[in-house]
Amino acid sequence: MIKHDSERKIWVLEGDCFAYALGLSKTGTIVQTYFGEKLPYLSDYPEPELIAEYPYSGGSEVYQETFMGFGKATYTEPCLKATFEDGVRDLKLVFINFKISDSVLSFRMKDFFYPLEVILHYKIVPAYNLLELHSEIINSGSGNIQLEQVLSGSLYVPRDEPYRLTYLSGKWAGETQLSHTELPDTKLVLESRRGTTSHFTNPFFMLDRGGNSQEDHGEVYFGALAFSGNWKIVFEKDRLGMVKISAGTNDFDFAWNLKPGDNFVTPISVLGFVKEGFGAVSRNLHRYQREEVLPAEHRSSLRKVLYNSWEATSFDVNEDQQIHLAKIAASIGVELFVMDDGWFGARNSDRAGLGDWIVNPDKFPNDLQNLIQEVNALGMDFGLWIEPEMVNPDSDLYRTHPDWVYHFPTRDSTLIRNQLILNLARADVRQYLFESINRLLTDHNIRFIKWDMNRNFSEPGYPSAPREEQKEIWFRHAEGVYEIARKLKQAHPNVIFQSCSGGGGRVDLGILRYFDQVWTSDNTDAFDRLKIQEGFSYAYCSKIMESWVTDEVSWISSRKLTLAYRFHCAMMGNLGIGDNLLKWSPEEQQEARELIHLYKEIRHIVQDGDQYRLKSPSEGPLASVMYVGEQQEEAVVFVFLHARNFMNHLPRLRLKGLRGDWLYQIDGVEQLFSGQALMAIGIKLEFHGDFQSKVIRIRKVEAP
Ligand code: DGJ
Repeated sequence: MIKHDSERKIWVLEGDCFAYALGLSKTGTIVQTYFGEKLPYLSDYPEPELIAEYPYSGGSEVYQETFMGFGKATYTEPCLKATFEDGVRDLKLVFINFKISDSVLSFRMKDFFYPLEVILHYKIVPAYNLLELHSEIINSGSGNIQLEQVLSGSLYVPRDEPYRLTYLSGKWAGETQLSHTELPDTKLVLESRRGTTSHFTNPFFMLDRGGNSQEDHGEVYFGALAFSGNWKIVFEKDRLGMVKISAGTNDFDFAWNLKPGDNFVTPISVLGFVKEGFGAVSRNLHRYQREEVLPAEHRSSLRKVLYNSWEATSFDVNEDQQIHLAKIAASIGVELFVMDDGWFGARNSDRAGLGDWIVNPDKFPNDLQNLIQEVNALGMDFGLWIEPEMVNPDSDLYRTHPDWVYHFPTRDSTLIRNQLILNLARADVRQYLFESINRLLTDHNIRFIKWDMNRNFSEPGYPSAPREEQKEIWFRHAEGVYEIARKLKQAHPNVIFQSCSGGGGRVDLGILRYFDQVWTSDNTDAFDRLKIQEGFSYAYCSKIMESWVTDEVSWISSRKLTLAYRFHCAMMGNLGIGDNLLKWSPEEQQEARELIHLYKEIRHIVQDGDQYRLKSPSEGPLASVMYVGEQQEEAVVFVFLHARNFMNHLPRLRLKGLRGDWLYQIDGVEQLFSGQALMAIGIKLEFHGDFQSKVIRIRKVEAP
């Protein structure tokens, strides 16, 4: 998997289908020599190539450096920018040694004068055609070193080619929208400066070579960053034909005081390459998440059908009403009952209570015990909403500890949703939060936590810290969330954690190492949702994608959709119900019961199978997604018709991912078809009217 040609000073990391090669340049730097499909012989992989020696680079020798320090005459994005105690801000890293252990190749580099070392780690994850890259910065001297920029590393895609960049942009209630642009001959940055991953851009990209790849063919380079704080991914394309991509924590307002003996470990950048188009990118990432990234405790278990009270009861929760909802939820087949916001402190609206994680005695005179017992007696698990990182000024916590929030003493703090952000760089704040949530989980039979985060950062001051450490908060906050979640998970391994941030504002490969699933969007209109879910599916798997069935007339779009359509859309991920069940007629309850029953029969395919995007909701009258079971013996296809006009005929739906020579039966159809026929000819669709939907089940049968 990791090969070394000591004579040519080449290292090659090989996955099942791709390879990444590095070499040692004449100037003593580690450079990338190859990234693409796997080649037959070690001798095929090139040696370091001098890209240019050109005047306006100060005569610099330009190589495809993998971890460039800011120093000498270098002008592209540095991975490391540091100031030494004497004020020198010039860094020149040279190779010291390398180490290969199992699937990890590490290079140690050092400044040729100052006591600053860097270790670059490449881990090959062969089965998913992925590489994990991160770096470690070590202060091996006796004075402080100020870091002003630290990225995980850089990589390059083959030179002199056009590329199309595909990424996920969005907004609140409109997350993960697919965006494309030709990679310009200049610099382009995807980033968040909001203190968290953000609704606006997700740390994921695909670059397809030639710009004409499709779902099933084309060379695609892709990457994602495992970090939930400020991040950036920088693309630099120059007139030498070089395309450099650098990713890591954002240097915006960032500084880190690296003390003697300390090290700074960057987030992991995940990189990959496939020859089989965008669909293969997603399936690789999906499997990687399900099998390697998600917390091990719940990786292999199927997610339960949940009910969430938010859209039904808002902040106005109480014991009787929640029990009433729980009874109907259980009767239609729900397995996990989650009470959302409003159960604690003086939380009657978003103006008060955040920070006081104590059950509100007026709403719940019997603590939560009665409610939980009832829910459990109904055969369901109980789950609870929290928003640990936040505080309302109108709360006991803020009145006691006004200094616990990010703030600048001479400036007003901006309130967003009437709340401020707790300073998780402080150990006492992290301890308070761990203890509060730990107590809740210890005292109650809670099996699910919805961890919300409803605002972005402003006035990011930490006045009580030494001046040179105040800008560390951007990194320390995200690490603080991870630390609390890690400790809670260790103490309560049975609890499933969901990441929510006003919908899908914190979905990334970093949070997914601690959180088992995510809330995708507050937009629960099933038609809008098709697009949100489609974008989401490029980077993230359906097992983590929570989706709810809500009101017949959407609060966000006023669109009216049938119960079946709303269910079918939500069944493409992790099914939840978020409507006010008290309003459902017996007929609606019965229809829901049948649909939940169907979901339970197919959820192992949806959650753990391979996903194929058959029709995009952005093109034509149909949208369709197919899930194929691991052994290809069963599949389920979701199809949605938006509208038909001018009596247009519907195209046949060509399936994917089946075994060509096997015979399959489509539920409700007598004739058997080979997988090849279903993929080459497709299935005929009967749809009438607007906003129609279908779930089609397909199973392998033995030849008669
Ligand atoms: C934002 C979330 O996205 C909603 O689902 C809900 O939990 C509210 N916060 C509660 O305040």
